[in-house]
Formats: sequence, C-alpha cells, structure tokens
Amino acid sequence: MAVAAGFPTTWQTLLPAQPVTFPPDFLWGVASSAFQAEGGDVPNDWVAAARKGRVPPNPGNGFWEQAEEDLRLVAALGLRHYRLSVEWSRVEPERGRFDEAALDRYRAICDAARSVGITPWVNLFHFTHPCWLAERGGLLDPANHADFLRYVEHTGRALAGHATHFHVSNESMVYVLSSYLLGQNPPFVRDRELAFTMTRHVLALHAAAYGVLKGLVPSPTVATIEVYLDPRPADPESSHQCTSARRFDAWYHGTLLRALVTGCIELPGREPEEIPGLAGALDLYGFNYYSSLSFGERGVGSYTDRPQAPKDEMGRHVFPRGLEEGLLRVAAALPRVPLVVTENGCPTSDETFRIRYIAAHLAALARARGSGADVRGYFHWTAVDNYEWHRGFAGGGFGLIGFDSKTKARTPKRSALWLEAAIKRCGFAPQDVP
Ligand code: FCB
Repeated sequence: MAVAAGFPTTWQTLLPAQPVTFPPDFLWGVASSAFQAEGGDVPNDWVAAARKGRVPPNPGNGFWEQAEEDLRLVAALGLRHYRLSVEWSRVEPERGRFDEAALDRYRAICDAARSVGITPWVNLFHFTHPCWLAERGGLLDPANHADFLRYVEHTGRALAGHATHFHVSNESMVYVLSSYLLGQNPPFVRDRELAFTMTRHVLALHAAAYGVLKGLVPSPTVATIEVYLDPRPADPESSHQCTSARRFDAWYHGTLLRALVTGCIELPGREPEEIPGLAGALDLYGFNYYSSLSFGERGVGSYTDRPQAPKDEMGRHVFPRGLEEGLLRVAAALPRVPLVVTENGCPTSDETFRIRYIAAHLAALARARGSGADVRGYFHWTAVDNYEWHRGFAGGGFGLIGFDSKTKARTPKRSALWLEAAIKRCGFAPQDVP
C-alpha cells in the first residue's frame, strides 16, 4: 500500500497539465444499479429497512418505466455501454417462484439498449436481498447458497442472447464490509468473525456463479466488480494509523486479489481454503473508484486533517492518484486480465466540480494506461440521478442527467455535454476543463 505524501489540496494540482488521449476503441459507458434507479415497493430488505426508518425511502428515478428514453439519451451522448443490474426480489419475489413478466422487462431493456447501439452489462447482485432470503439468514447461511445459484442460472438463461456481458455481483467486499463488519447496511451486522465468514462465502459464490454464467449459450464475458478503497494513514508518521490502514488493506484488497490468482482464500486466524473454480474466475476486472479511505485519529474515513482539499457533497476528497495507483496495482496482481473502470463519479450540484472530477480521474486513468495497465474503458456512475443508499435523493446527485421528481422529465447536465465532447475527440486538453 502506498503511503500518502503531499496530499493535493487545489484543483490546479489535481488537473492535468497535458492533453489526455484515449484510443478510438476505448469503451465509454455509464453504470447504475436496479434498486437505486428503479426503486419502488419491491419485496427486498432495503424497502423493509426503509419502513423501519433505518434507511431513506426510495421512490426511484423512473428507470423501470422509462429505460428506453434513458438509453436513447445516453446513446446520444456517445456512451456505448450501460451497466445495469437485476433486482432479485422482482424476478424471484417468493422463493422458487420466478416472475416471467419482470424477466421480460429486463429482456426488453437489454434489447432497447442494443437497438440504440449500447452494449448492456448485466450485474446480478447489487446489495439488495429478497425478503424471503433475508428472513432465512441471507447468504451468511451456506444452506441458502443454492438459492443464489438458482437465481443466477435462471436469470442468466433468461437474458443470454439479450446480453453478452455479465457480472455476478457488485463490490462483494463492500457488501461484506457494510453489511457484516460495520453494520451500516441490511442485515446491519457488526461482527469481525462473521465478516470473515462472509468474505469466504462471497468469493466461493463468485466462483460458482462464474461457472454457471460461462456455461450459458452463448457464453458471455463475465467480470468481477470491486471498488478500490485506497486505504491510507491520514498521518504517514503515525505507526498506529499505518498499521490500521495496512491491516485493512491486507484483508480488503489482499485477500481478494490473491484468491483470484491462487484460488485459495486466506483469512486472518483461519486455515487457507482452496475454492474450486476460483483461480482465474474472471474475464475482465471491473474497477470502481471514488476516493481514498483515510485512517486518521478520528477513525476511518476522517479527513479532518485535510480541510482545504476539494471534496464532494458526501465529504469525500478528490484523490485521482488513488485511481492511478490502484489500477497499476490490480494490473500487476492480475496480469493478462483486462481492466475497465466500472464506476467513478461524485455527488454534487456544482457542474464545474463534476467536470473537474471527471477530467482529473480520466487523466489518472490515462496515466495508468501509459504506465502499462490494460484499462479498456470508463463507466461513469451514473446516468440519471438516483437513490444513494444512506442519502436517498437528498443533495446533489451522481448523475450526468438530472430529472424532475414530479414529471420524471430528464435533462442532461453540463457535465454530460462535456463528456460527450471528450468522447467525440477521444480526449481533452487542459484548457477544455473549466
Ligand atoms: C458504489 C456503489 C454504488 C453507488 C456508488 C456511489 O460504491 O456500488 O451502488 O452507491 O458507490
């Protein structure tokens, strides 16, 4: 893990001084998730938690009803790839009963994407569980793993031929972290040992689901998606902070990257475990990135020591170097596996901020490519402003496109037009950034 030195505090030090270029075949896309865009009264554990006031309610942004329009808007911006996900509780509202009408809608969305020249990338699990699964103990109970694989197989079969790119799960390690270690997301568990058990389970489920998806006809491209958290001590001189950041990194990034290479899961205090099919169970690595995670005096994520650096409306500092170094690290750990940045973006109501954020991260991505990382594309999070897990729809959104909460009418933002121009020109010059 790299140790922070000279944390940049102005946009001037964050933005590129040279033109930034991408090859003509670079993949430009947007990413979204089913529940965050569709919302609605679906039978999942987030809706149940919202009813209890533990998370904000989610009316959705209208994607379920008007995906076709969103896809046309996105295509018009020159974006040719769309990461969406399937809401498990829609397609399997009761254990073992699949709702073919819901699957038809997802098929129609994939077809609508392809009809406007967009490749759909379908993710099958993005944090939400059907209530029936949550009530049975979720994926923590190995007895329920067959349910997950049945859902993957049924949905994969339903969508094969309509989509050629799949992901088993979004950010498995964040799912473990937020739901089982920090207790922030359903089922709100805070238990280190259970978090290690879940780490084992999500990796084993990834391997098994990868095998299921690769067996589909036609066989799709199957990628992982993990967010790079870039843990760093807030004060590199503090040995306590360095140790905490290093320990976290060893579990969060280390376990995952090693397991994908060796097929063996190594967790603190446990016997290493070989998982059949895990070694090399990815055709492509989906790399999400937002900011660096600081280990400071006031705990994890506290950035009080860097008050001047630009930060988004969720208080996260803009730190593109974490993207560059993370891409190089993953590229070195997984040689021959192509990488795609599958999420990057920021919550803001300031369009100049968003454009600068995108420009700074695209420049970091280009630097990583220049240093040899095989990064094939950039997916912005997200297309249309959507539900953010603990913020709901409050404040500035992550979208390139805004919407009217009453009419659901969409309006591309200034950042969308900026990105469109960058895509057209295969890059941008320093003077193009406001
Ligand atoms: C990512 C999540 C995604 C969204 C963005 C802002 O870590 O995958 O669902 O909330 O953060």
